[in-house]
Amino acid sequence: MTLLPVPHVAIIVVAAGSGTRLDAGAPKAFVGIDARPILRHALDGVFAAAPAQVIVVAPAGFEGDAETELRAAAGSRSDLGRVVTGGGTRQQSVAAGLAALWGDITTVLVHDAARALTPPALIDAVAAAVTDDTGIIPTLPVVDTLKKVDGGSVIAAVDRSELAAAQTPQGFPRRYLEPAYAAALASNVEYTDDAALFAAAGHAVRRIDGAARAFKITTPADLARARHLLASPTSGFQGPRVGIGTDVHAFGGEGSLWLAGLEWPGEEPLSGHSDGDAVAHAIVDALLGAAGLGDIGEHFGTAHPEFAGAHAAVFLARTRELLTDAGFAIGNVSAQFQGNRPRFSARRAEAEQVLSAALGGAPVSITATTTDGLGFAGRGEGISVTAVAMVVPDGSRNMTIG
Ligand code: CTP
Ligand code: MG
Repeated sequence: MTLLPVPHVAIIVVAAGSGTRLDAGAPKAFVGIDARPILRHALDGVFAAAPAQVIVVAPAGFEGDAETELRAAAGSRSDLGRVVTGGGTRQQSVAAGLAALWGDITTVLVHDAARALTPPALIDAVAAAVTDDTGIIPTLPVVDTLKKVDGGSVIAAVDRSELAAAQTPQGFPRRYLEPAYAAALASNVEYTDDAALFAAAGHAVRRIDGAARAFKITTPADLARARHLLASPTSGFQGPRVGIGTDVHAFGGEGSLWLAGLEWPGEEPLSGHSDGDAVAHAIVDALLGAAGLGDIGEHFGTAHPEFAGAHAAVFLARTRELLTDAGFAIGNVSAQFQGNRPRFSARRAEAEQVLSAALGGAPVSITATTTDGLGFAGRGEGISVTAVAMVVPDGSRNMTIG
């Protein structure tokens, strides 16, 4: 049996609150976001971070449920975790967690289970930034304009550049956090957060950049936000994703042929809602499909008359915008065109360059084939195109969106 080194970092996950403001009929930590409750999501994040002792502080009577979530999240590392019973206030719950620290722990992170979607990278960043005498909190800039008010009166404006919103996990050197907690308990003062308690004992606290996904689930609207984020294509599997698209157009109609982003003088045109560019349309569907963003009909169909007659560059640029907004970068695109005409090889490089430029430089390759006289393509009635695309979640954006 291999013995893994004992970690020097502990994460106290406070989950003992009742969730009065969420009002979901169960202690907040056990309210489902999807099939998994808030606590499970929080612990999934904690166990995806660097190995640490994990202390879950559960509401009295829910220790068994907390144990179940802990074991499920910990997998083979359940030796790192344990459950303790919380107290009447958050501060008392943290104190209960502190009492369960292993002897080797030197850095303690205190984390709200309610910040269920906190990125593991933020947990690691906080742990790494704690020094032997300085606490660390993640903060976000305040975006709203702030006012000092008194009942119905606005007393003054507040300069928001001096302010920041504090998140968790908050990290501290154990040797100063424990005495600070003992002092707070003795004086019976309730602090707004662990950093305030630590600072009140005379110690320095510094900040690092927080993450939008580390928001606290407090109200039903916050829970809806968490559900939305989990359902969105930027969550879950974070590796590359592929999509497929096909398009078929019949020859016919007016004007010249537009295909693969190029005009083909002298060739019979394709009919369609836009310019009939089946290569561009198959690529759009492949990209949208890869990102889980619906299909071409939804974004460019007859309900969007602004795209009537538009050429490939417009479709592709808009598609790229949709993907960027959803947090995806385009990996590459490959499309195959089946048809007798036009003869493609002479203009392949030109077409690839135009399509690639419209997609912000992502590589595009086009292949072409005839069908041995078979089917509608072989009879010269139209063409058929199949495209595949690969997209990658843009990890750096995921840290800050949502
Ligand atoms: N917490 C705790 N023990 C308490 C109170 C709060 O462990 N006695 C934890 C909560 O479980 C939560 C975190 O502290 O993960 C932040 O608290 P908050 O968002 O206020 O949660 P609740 O107190 O449960 O919610 P509410 O204030 O709406 O009742
Ligand atoms: Mg509370």
